[in-house]
Amino acid sequence: MKHSRVDTFATNNTSGFKKFLQARRTRTERLLVAQLKIVTRGSPKTLTDAMKYAVLNGGKRLRPLLVYAVGKTYGADIKALDAPACAIEMIHSFSLVHDDLPAMDNDSLRRGKPTCHLAFNEATAILAGDTLAIAAFQILSGDKNLPAEKKTLMCKTLAEASGPAGMAGGQYIDLHVVGKKLDQPTLEKMYLLKTGALISAAVKLGAIVAGVSKQKLKLLERLALNIGLAFQIKDDILNIESTVDTLGKNVGTDSALNKITYPALAGSEAAKMKIKKLWSASQRITRQLKIEDGVLQELITYIMQRDF
Ligand code: IPE
Ligand code: IPE
Ligand code: MG
Ligand code: MG
Repeated sequence: MKHSRVDTFATNNTSGFKKFLQARRTRTERLLVAQLKIVTRGSPKTLTDAMKYAVLNGGKRLRPLLVYAVGKTYGADIKALDAPACAIEMIHSFSLVHDDLPAMDNDSLRRGKPTCHLAFNEATAILAGDTLAIAAFQILSGDKNLPAEKKTLMCKTLAEASGPAGMAGGQYIDLHVVGKKLDQPTLEKMYLLKTGALISAAVKLGAIVAGVSKQKLKLLERLALNIGLAFQIKDDILNIESTVDTLGKNVGTDSALNKITYPALAGSEAAKMKIKKLWSASQRITRQLKIEDGVLQELITYIMQRDF
């Protein structure tokens, strides 16, 4: 299927893609349960419960899906994709637990349930976040399906994406620009750190497992930046336009916290147009990579069009 115009923004939504979504989501859930069991052996019960609460709670699993989609596109063995898929979801879940803490976004609802610090307490939520982040590296480094040099590269990739020059750095900026003036390029840079870095890492992890060429990896990295930016802009539009029931999290919170977001800065229509442009740019890259009819392109469209 060809999409030539910016405003078509259509999805293939084939039955093959639906099957892919369902099968990989089920696989991810199963893996997360199994890995949590392993990493929490010997852990205090309440800490284990908090970790499980933060992970096994109906996330969309978009980052694992990206790992699997890139891996599938380039012929990786599915078993070798399991550890990175699981690890990145643990890092993401940790980032959500900390994002919701009183000192950060002070949120009360996540994935349709009270946030971790409300269901347990603040100290337990902080430790559950810490231990999930650490568990991600335990899972990646201990995996039996990957050669040592790939595991090292994947740990480095995930650490960089999660750390001060990645997600955590973006979160710092997000909190510290409140009340300040911010131009659009700086805002985009912040989005690319707080959200884009982990999305990029998902794409890179799938590519590392599959052993794609340097040239393809460069294009995939550009693709991932488009996805990451569009993903956060969409998150901010949904925060304005969606409902608590649909999202499973509170709405209107960005404006209540005076957060600087793309729709707040440029307006909702401009924000939606930006997503369409990013989608078109992603189309151009997948065409260059000759994968425009594959599961990855369908996943990109699904992610950018989501209304949940
Ligand atoms: C929400 O991410 C936080 C952002 C980085 C914008 P998701 O929308 O992927 O959240 P879950 O995992 O489905 O809950
Ligand atoms: C979340 O950003 C980014 C990370 C958790 C790294 P937001 O604060 O905008 O996400 P939600 O809306 O709470 O999920
Ligand atoms: Mg936040
Ligand atoms: Mg938040």
